[in-house]
Amino acid sequence: MWGADVHTAHGGSHRSRRRPLRYARGDRARERAAIVAATIDFRVANVMEYDPPAEGPWDLVVLSETIYYPGWLYAFFNIAWLAVQLFMATRAGGRLLLANTQGDMKDYFVRPWLIRRYRDLFLNVGYHLETEEICRGTKHGVDLGILMPLLTKDPQS
Ligand SMILES: C[S@@+](CC[C@H](N)C(=O)[O-])C[C@H]1O[C@@H](n2cnc3c(N)ncnc32)[C@H](O)[C@@H]1O
Repeated sequence: MWGADVHTAHGGSHRSRRRPLRYARGDRARERAAIVAATIDFRVANVMEYDPPAEGPWDLVVLSETIYYPGWLYAFFNIAWLAVQLFMATRAGGRLLLANTQGDMKDYFVRPWLIRRYRDLFLNVGYHLETEEICRGTKHGVDLGILMPLLTKDPQS
């Protein structure tokens, strides 16, 4: 995204925009890093031991390429409990975005029939499906997709 922004800001020949691009990208990165450092609180935690409602309500929860590990290592009850805790921590009208690779890979925990289960679980705890996309690609000769459901919590809830 930075490249696209900078490219728009520095038109002209290829040669003339190379230096400003590098300089601008560094400036922009520092500027954004300062904003991020000032506004985002990073934590390292096991999500299975974390208490989302204690820190919500959140506008957006993103679970990117993560849920299938707890789903592999914890009981189904615990995963369902996590789903309902995240729902409780999402503000009314807020969203949860899931992004999970699925395919017929040797890691059985990313098989489509399991990956779709997480989407369905979040629907069952109360989110509604707003959109769903699948980004397709190939890795090590195996066709795979990234299932990306965007789920919303009813604004009236
Ligand atoms: C495949 S990486 C994905 C990293 C990043 N979220 C992304 O989308 O590029 C899987 C991530 O899940 C995290 N993870 C696995 N089990 C977890 C748990 N119980 N609590 C928190 N994070 C977990 C790992 O630490 C790792 O960062």
